[in-house]
Amino acid sequence: MKSVVIEQPGKLVIEERPLPEPSAGEVRVKVRLAGICGSDSHIYRGHNPFARYPRVIGHEFFGVIDAVGEGVDAKRLGERVSVDPVISCGHCYPCSVGKPNVCTSLVVLGVHRDGGFSEYAVVPAQNAWTIPDAIPDRHAVMVEPFTIAANVTAQAAPQEQDVALIYGAGPMGLVTVQALKGVYKVKRVIVVDRIEERLAMARRSGADWTINNGERPLADALAEAGVKPTLIVDAACHPSILQEAITLASPAARIVLMGFSSEPSQIVQQGITGKELSIFSSRLNAHKFPVVIDWLAKGAIDPEKLITHTFDYHHVTDAIELFEKDQRQCCKVLLTFGQ
Ligand code: NAI
Ligand code: MN
Ligand code: ZN
Repeated sequence: MKSVVIEQPGKLVIEERPLPEPSAGEVRVKVRLAGICGSDSHIYRGHNPFARYPRVIGHEFFGVIDAVGEGVDAKRLGERVSVDPVISCGHCYPCSVGKPNVCTSLVVLGVHRDGGFSEYAVVPAQNAWTIPDAIPDRHAVMVEPFTIAANVTAQAAPQEQDVALIYGAGPMGLVTVQALKGVYKVKRVIVVDRIEERLAMARRSGADWTINNGERPLADALAEAGVKPTLIVDAACHPSILQEAITLASPAARIVLMGFSSEPSQIVQQGITGKELSIFSSRLNAHKFPVVIDWLAKGAIDPEKLITHTFDYHHVTDAIELFEKDQRQCCKVLLTFGQ
């Protein structure tokens, strides 16, 4: 089989590898589609501190089960599946409180272990989630990015009366907007970014108001409209954003962080305690595949609005370069395998 391998930072090759056999409790997935994410580009460029090389990248992928290991029901052969990249131990403290996404021995497919940019991938059977026939392949490959939003919203418990502010109209901001509008029916969702084309995408995904903070300060725009957000999600992830969010938030608001910056954020405690703000963080997803598959089945979210490009995997380097260089035109870029 062919696999997309990052041999070392900056060196991507399409390599011939032996077809892997599933061990006990595993299935082999014949990959049909995979999505490119910022973290794939970071591993390629050597900017992901968790990555070990060589590595088959890709943690957003969909395909068909074509072999099962010992102890896995052979009825699963031929099943269409989306793969949860989060592999956890099941018995450590975070696992015991329902947070396998921060398991003390966390393994993420495509980061710590070979992932889905490959003609075939072997994964734990319990990570391969059955996709109902009514959900098309192109939507099934988008389950993982939407689980990030499902994890954010599970922490923040959005209400219809919330006034939500989302920083960043990249893929992560857009999945969050769709969840807030389509699933939680939040009355007012505001998105802030500096790129006009991305703000247009946010409006297509349901944002009620978009603000370009490259043109005018966010604080001015909100003050003029008399708006104090009650739920703020940082999907832009610059270390300066937390203090701005604390300042702009309504009393009793919730703030959710998604960033991995290693730079310090300077914050003033009075702004947090004075308004009794709740600050959450969200990493990957905790058991959110069935949640998002249900959202798709109900038509509450529309992944099509995020997909801007599709490439055959032979052109993976072009696909990643386009994804990195063209934030105006690119959102989700998909790779097709074996078609
Ligand atoms: P992206 O880079 O495509 O989008 C970020 C957007 O934020 C861009 O459109 C950019 O113009 C905008 N932005 C940057 N600084 C801003 C500011 N100060 N004010 C307003 N807008 C600003 O990235 P993507 O894929 O949407 O991911 C967003 C972030 O989420 C990344 O930092 C990534 O590391 C993180 N992430 C976290 C995950 C988690 O589970 N916690 C999962 C996936 C991504
Ligand atoms: Mn991703
Ligand atoms: Zn664990």
